[in-house]
Amino acid sequence: MKPLVVLGVTGSIGRQSLEVADQLGWPVAGIGARRPSAGLAEIARSRPETEIAVAGGSLEEREEFSREFRGRVSFGPEALEGLAAIPSVVVVNGVVGLVGLPLTMAAAKAGNRIALANKESMVAAGPLIRRELARSGGELIPVDSEHSAIFQCLTGEDRESVERVILTASGGPFRTWEVDKLESVTPAEALAHPNWSMGDRITIDSATMANKALEVMEAQQLFELEVDQVEVVIHPESVVHSMVRFRDGSIKAQLGAPDMRLPIAYALTYPERAPDVLKPFDFAGVSLNFEAPDLTRFPALALGYSAARLGQSAPAVYNASDEVAVAAFLGGRLGFRSITSVIEQTLEGLGVQSVESVEDVLAADREARSLAAAAIAGAC
Ligand SMILES: NC(=O)c1ccc[n+]([C@@H]2O[C@H](COP(=O)([O-])OP(=O)(O)OC[C@H]3O[C@@H](n4cnc5c(N)ncnc54)[C@H](OP(=O)(O)O)[C@@H]3O)[C@@H](O)[C@H]2O)c1
Repeated sequence: MKPLVVLGVTGSIGRQSLEVADQLGWPVAGIGARRPSAGLAEIARSRPETEIAVAGGSLEEREEFSREFRGRVSFGPEALEGLAAIPSVVVVNGVVGLVGLPLTMAAAKAGNRIALANKESMVAAGPLIRRELARSGGELIPVDSEHSAIFQCLTGEDRESVERVILTASGGPFRTWEVDKLESVTPAEALAHPNWSMGDRITIDSATMANKALEVMEAQQLFELEVDQVEVVIHPESVVHSMVRFRDGSIKAQLGAPDMRLPIAYALTYPERAPDVLKPFDFAGVSLNFEAPDLTRFPALALGYSAARLGQSAPAVYNASDEVAVAAFLGGRLGFRSITSVIEQTLEGLGVQSVESVEDVLAADREARSLAAAAIAGAC
């Protein structure tokens, strides 16, 4: 049992990772987050054996935090990279946004197992991460429930026999709304996901289906597929987490309650399975429905396929412009449907640059953020 390092420990994935660690009796060696918050202090207090890394915070906040956790805490983004690079640990990357990329790279370089929830890393820099893992002998096990499902379906199968993967999507809270009503959607309405309790960005992304678009790009990179081998189907109950269709026509699916503790536990214990992570699933009264996604209602999904086809810097640009637009929507500075318009304008405005290094990815990310901010200012 290699000890865990949980990055993004104060977030939805981070807290559930600690729950899983406690459930499995798994040691935790390090924890990291953005701010020296009360939430982080509480976790640090309850786990006196952990090293703590804090990316941000003002000088005063850091001083106050250091008073209680002197000798255990380091500051700055490089402190989180340091935890990710501790030899022989399992790194849960549960940070939100492209800030997770240097952490994934640091863990990959150190040859560690990465339990990856931070999909932004894989979307923006998949080939670079895969190259680093091949060099170091590290491994990456997906935590995103859909990708964990696909990973589980592929285990023991010959990759040559895979015809396509089928990502399921709940369709979010607006699946049945009239398209005209979507512009007036409020942040509170968009944050009310029907099946999953998650951080703000991924919840808004689920409502626009930009999250599914990012997952298409993530699946393409994780499993080294052509874009057209990644299909999306709406499945409102979120019980089938995703599927793989094989060359002979057979389809394998992974099912269960919508609960992130299962994919988190699987990423730690793979190739083994821990007992009783979830209670037995009761199928009585459960019906499973499937429908094709409506691209008029969810243009962000179609745009995601375009970005995936363009490749190179386009997925990073998609991700960055979406992140900026979601923040503007949550801040009341942008309408719900305009999130997708901002992504579209940014993709069109920047074109495609080749990506050979992490620096190229970060440059594309910076340019996209500033163009997206200008598009939002123009839309106000
Ligand atoms: N939540 C889910 O069920 C779920 C499912 C599948 C995939 N994912 C993916 O998992 C990732 C995390 O999602 P989440 O829902 O857990 O997000 P969240 O609840 O918003 O938590 C984000 C975490 O990242 C930390 N963080 C933010 N900016 C940071 C920075 N600059 N440096 C270091 N740490 C930083 C936050 O720290 P502070 O608290 O200090 O700000 C917090 O601990 C995302 O990539 C998401 O797409 C999530």
